Amino acid sequence: MLTFLWKFIVFHFLIMSCCLLNDVNPEDNLDIPAIAKYFNTKGRYEEVNPYLIEDILAVNRSILQPPSAQCQEIHLTAIIRHGTRYPTTKNIKEMQQLYNIVLHNASGEASWLHEIQTQWTMWYTEDMDGRLVQKGVNDLKHLAVRLSKLFPSLISEEKLRGGFIQFITSSKHRCVNSTLSFKAGLTELWAITDKEFDHVVNDALMRFFDQCTRFVVEVDNNTSAVAEVNKFKQGPEMRRVQEKIADRLRVPYSLITHDLTEAAFYLCAYEFAIKAVTSPWCQLFDEVDAKVMEYASDLREYWKRGYGYDINSKSSCRLFHDVFSRLDKAASENKSGQQVTEPVTVQIGHADTLLPLLTLLGFFKDSDALTSTNYASQTQRSFRTSHMLPYAANLVLVLYDCGGGDLRLQPLLNEKPVTFPGLTDPRAPVPLYEDVKEHYRELLQGCDFETECQLFKHPAEV
Ligand SMILES: *[C@@H]1O[C@H](CO)[C@@H](O)[C@H](O)[C@H]1NC(C)=O
Ligand SMILES: *[C@@H]1O[C@H](CO)[C@@H](O)[C@H](O)[C@H]1NC(C)=O
Ligand SMILES: *[C@@H]1O[C@H](CO)[C@@H](O)[C@H](O)[C@H]1NC(C)=O
Ligand SMILES: *[C@@H]1O[C@H](CO)[C@@H](O)[C@H](O)[C@H]1NC(C)=O
Ligand SMILES: *[C@@H]1O[C@H](CO)[C@@H](O)[C@H](O)[C@H]1NC(C)=O
Ligand SMILES: *[C@@H]1O[C@H](CO)[C@@H](O)[C@H](O)[C@H]1NC(C)=O
Repeated sequence: MLTFLWKFIVFHFLIMSCCLLNDVNPEDNLDIPAIAKYFNTKGRYEEVNPYLIEDILAVNRSILQPPSAQCQEIHLTAIIRHGTRYPTTKNIKEMQQLYNIVLHNASGEASWLHEIQTQWTMWYTEDMDGRLVQKGVNDLKHLAVRLSKLFPSLISEEKLRGGFIQFITSSKHRCVNSTLSFKAGLTELWAITDKEFDHVVNDALMRFFDQCTRFVVEVDNNTSAVAEVNKFKQGPEMRRVQEKIADRLRVPYSLITHDLTEAAFYLCAYEFAIKAVTSPWCQLFDEVDAKVMEYASDLREYWKRGYGYDINSKSSCRLFHDVFSRLDKAASENKSGQQVTEPVTVQIGHADTLLPLLTLLGFFKDSDALTSTNYASQTQRSFRTSHMLPYAANLVLVLYDCGGGDLRLQPLLNEKPVTFPGLTDPRAPVPLYEDVKEHYRELLQGCDFETECQLFKHPAEV
């Protein structure tokens, strides 16, 4: 009894001291579900950069050293995913189904279950259909401010007013609203009220996946293409997760399908991303379960947008060439003594826009494919959408002029410097632009969208 009391006192003392000292580690934040690290593309940007939890406008300039002191940034392209959004109509229907089961069939006695049954309300409606939420507006506003702090000479009031910052967006409402939000972040920062700034809708660039016939027919609209995903959903790891949920609810195993399991996971994820609350739905999963859910979703992204099929990444050829042609233009303008005419491009699209491009560039490639049977050996995989593609995920490419025709290209993913895979030189972490072009020479000379996306007569087959 004494030991117990003593432990109790020490425990409380530790809690008090941690709070009084105000050095709470964001990782220990009690308001964050333990499973929030595994939400795939439904994850918060803050989980990827936890320092933002304390200060959403913080930038870590110390990790972004220009290649050398005399370097100056001359061009920046940012390819950004839209911010936090509502679930899609399909997800909402599944959530409603699950909620009905919990209301009418669950007989467990846990307090969280009681809370769902008596206090939680199904507030999602089908017309919300994937729209940007207020948190999503803020995601983009804050990102705009942080990027302007990281690159003050490029994302500046002068450049914006001069029309040197171009905005290109996918036509989807959540992307257009994200674009408006990014712009609002800048105009509010500089208190610009006398001027509005245009954006261009361009689905050929930002929703290329819909326009690539070969991809649509062979992968996107082909259930056999995701056979590994379906096998995993039927497999032992996933079955165990479903059984544990049924046990927690005290309903027959047959009632909890994979779709409903996913709906439960999404409910926890959406309640957290949209409202910043840890909802009672989160209690349906422990971390072991969450990792299985995360893998199922990564598996799907791998086969539908990632390395699973060559056409997935090739569908982004147009965007790839577009990015490099603007880099080339900036490089040659600077070299020939002209002002760079397009110093900044901000392009807003989808996870489905970023992932094929990241794959084309070779990022997050593991030695083994993700399959239905190698869950256990893939625990250390780099292909992890929770890290790569939270809401407002972004790939930023910055071209530096370092004097004497020395141009260098720095890639950043989610505001952290990364290196082009296969192009690392410890003495020069930021590669020469020429070396980057050499590294991607084959793609720069080929990767023709029209040819790759044709259904027949694919070059690899003739
Ligand atoms: C910034 O980056 C440096 C170097 O990686 C790191 O030591 C530091 O903790 C980072 N600061 C924040 C606030 O994350
Ligand atoms: C679930 O509850 C509904 C409504 O009470 C009932 O009609 C249905 O039979 C129940 N299903 C199972 C499997 O118990
Ligand atoms: C998004 O834009 C539409 C109109 O384009 C507007 O009605 C809606 O309120 C916007 N949503 C947000 C969250 O800004
Ligand atoms: C669907 O995918 C499977 C597996 O990759 C492939 O063998 C088949 O040809 C695809 N079907 C179509 C219509 O392309
Ligand atoms: C998708 O496949 C279905 C049947 O497999 C077919 O009816 C439909 O036309 C296809 N859609 C596209 C866009 O290819
Ligand atoms: C190229 O860019 C650098 C860095 O901004 C600048 O100092 C230099 O004047 C530019 N060259 C020309 C010809 O504009």
